[in-house]
Amino acid sequence: MKTMLWEDNKLLLIDQTKIPDELTYFTCKNYKDVITAIKTMVVRGAPAIGVAAAFAVALADEAGENLEKVAEEIKASRPTAVNLFWAVDRVMASDSPLDKALEMYQEDIDTNRSIGKYGSSVINDGDTILTHCNAGALACVDYGTALGVIRAAAEDGKKIKVICDETRPLGQGARLSVWEMQQENIPVKMIVDSAAGYMMQQGEVDKIVIGADRVAKGGVANKIGSLMVALAAQRFGVPFYVAAPMSTFDPEKSIYDVEIEERGSEEVLCYGGCRIAPCDTEVNNPAFDIVPSDLIAGIITEKGILDPL
Ligand code: MRU
Repeated sequence: MKTMLWEDNKLLLIDQTKIPDELTYFTCKNYKDVITAIKTMVVRGAPAIGVAAAFAVALADEAGENLEKVAEEIKASRPTAVNLFWAVDRVMASDSPLDKALEMYQEDIDTNRSIGKYGSSVINDGDTILTHCNAGALACVDYGTALGVIRAAAEDGKKIKVICDETRPLGQGARLSVWEMQQENIPVKMIVDSAAGYMMQQGEVDKIVIGADRVAKGGVANKIGSLMVALAAQRFGVPFYVAAPMSTFDPEKSIYDVEIEERGSEEVLCYGGCRIAPCDTEVNNPAFDIVPSDLIAGIITEKGILDPL
């Protein structure tokens, strides 16, 4: 299953807002459609928005748009995942945006396979692995980073089990990671986010593998809730790994200088389309948090397992 397809000069994106109820594609005929898809989370996950952004530049190029202006518009769609900026800059620097986007599409799949190969080496037969959010095939072109590690361990014949945090407010763990694991017939359980610490205290979790939106000096930015999982993992001695491609690294920057996206209040005030709090409730909705480097056992990349920055 590919999260995106390039067909007839259009970008087709699995509409991730509809999974698990429907598997449908959102068609991007121009770069503005891609920006809409990124902003509305039709496509999400750091590597996936990077590759989608690369195709957005290619669509704009085919339409003869002013690429400098378009690049700035695309970069303004979401602030935290560095892959978006990396991908736009890379395509802008090439002579043929479409060829470069197609190259990055294939590269993403190969990178994730390689992350999986290295990551499988830290997973033991019989392990239960907890993951947060969705760093799976849906967050990339295919295979996934954190879920790529889990897929690779399963392909290596290890009998593993997976625990997916629900991942409020948008439920990427519940809706997307659980669905992906079920498609692969990998045994999976779902918990509410606040159960993660208790599961570790009970000895139910052997490893944690999550993805990242940015790896920078001092730590990693990933989906809100990652920090609490990492703190509990330290308390209960559970190794906490991050799986991420080198395109997620931003080594010159302090992680504390990275912009953390603040999203709309309705994501918190509603769940599954139902209001769960009074309309006028004041809300904070940071989409990501920061896991400091000392809580991370290793960063699983396509080049091997690296120390955090
Ligand atoms: O807000 P999202 O769904 O784009 O957040 C995604 C995550 O936090 C992922 O863990 C991260 O992008 C890594 S995806 C391989």
